Amino acid sequence: MPQPVRITDTTLRDGHQSLLATRLRLEDMLPIIDKMDRVGFHSFEVWGGATFDSCLRFLGEDPWERLRALRRAFKNSRLQMLLRGQNLVGYRHYPDDVVAAFVRKAVSNGLDIIRIFDALNDTRNMRKAIEVTKEAGAHVQATVVYTTSPIHTVDHFVEVARELAAMGADSICLKDMAGILDPYTAHTVVGRLKAEVGLPVQVHTHYTSGMASMALLKAVEAGADVIDTAISSLALGTSQPACETMVAALRGTPYDPGLDLGLLGEIAEYFREVRKKYAEFDVAPPGVDTNVLRYQIPGGMISNFISQLSQQNALHRLTEVLDEVPRVREDLGYPPLVTPSSQIVGAQAVLNVLAGERYRMVTNEVRAYLRGLYGRPPGPVNEEVRRKIIGDERVVEGRPADELEPGLPEARKLAAPYMEQEEDVISVALFPQVAIKFLQERLARRTGVDYALLEEARKNGPAHYPA
Ligand code: CO
Repeated sequence: MPQPVRITDTTLRDGHQSLLATRLRLEDMLPIIDKMDRVGFHSFEVWGGATFDSCLRFLGEDPWERLRALRRAFKNSRLQMLLRGQNLVGYRHYPDDVVAAFVRKAVSNGLDIIRIFDALNDTRNMRKAIEVTKEAGAHVQATVVYTTSPIHTVDHFVEVARELAAMGADSICLKDMAGILDPYTAHTVVGRLKAEVGLPVQVHTHYTSGMASMALLKAVEAGADVIDTAISSLALGTSQPACETMVAALRGTPYDPGLDLGLLGEIAEYFREVRKKYAEFDVAPPGVDTNVLRYQIPGGMISNFISQLSQQNALHRLTEVLDEVPRVREDLGYPPLVTPSSQIVGAQAVLNVLAGERYRMVTNEVRAYLRGLYGRPPGPVNEEVRRKIIGDERVVEGRPADELEPGLPEARKLAAPYMEQEEDVISVALFPQVAIKFLQERLARRTGVDYALLEEARKNGPAHYPA
């Protein structure tokens, strides 16, 4: 029996991360939350992904304080975040003590649902986060990352989802970060997940290639329980499909989510005005990115190539680089092209083209990847390439985080002079330099104490902290 589909609104996380370089400030969210809270969304994605880093690095906002403020403002709705498995909200593996502390605080500060993924679909990199999320009493939404390659068959996606179900997931997210999921594949994958895994299925996609609202429609027909959309004024382009479009398309059908288009229109109007304030970050060309359709390479990656190659006066070699990407990806066992593997593959493809010989120059990240430090590649790596790059260095076969020493003790020492809350230790464990600078500036703002004195205090320890 077809059921009404439910909708997660991504405006306050992926919407502005995709369109406004993750710069949306809390002050521009709060005035509209009362209205958003009344719509009847399944949940709001408001935290995680790049927002944590962006708060500390660019906005001078405490991400934990943002979460608490959102929790206070949303009185009736579930809140959710995006968590990069053992990478949390950063770009490298963190030790288990940091993962556990982060997840516990994320839940105690107000999150109801944690969406957990790993860029390689290596479920070992998700195990700790899943465990702690469950212990903390939040909903575990475990994620299957979608990509295209000879390895990434429908059977593979179902297999990953089954593993996640066995690990205790409460629901499964099919996540298409690049916006390359076509409608008929969406129908097939969602249908199989629904039939064979036995958990609710949520679909996340991006509009980049122009197929996303069709993909969501077919996913709904195949039984998807929840879909991700953004409010129209922060939708489309590299963001999610527009909420209002899906609501209108499903109206009067058994899938009708029953949301009020009038209320959604008022929210859209609000964000249309807000968006103007962020014009300097709002630079992506609107419409469909045809390169994504041609090369199946995420839009962000291609714009990175253009800027890297321009700096080296080598823009005329763009086509060679785009052709090299699938070859590097094959050598590395077909990693999905998402953070951080898109950067790893992309940087190496540029080196392979510009250095005149493949793998003559190699990034540290490719070396670490081939040593197993990001996890198990989806398919077999090219052993000849591996030997050329790491020789007979040891390859880590186990879970990469098992190689790491606990991270909280050192972070606590660094944070001590400026600490106002336990969460500060976690921020420092994640982004040591950026977080320390943020904590110093926060303290300077509150106390009027000179920044240089704070630096001095840091060297001398808490006992010498200026009054
Ligand atoms: Co996304």
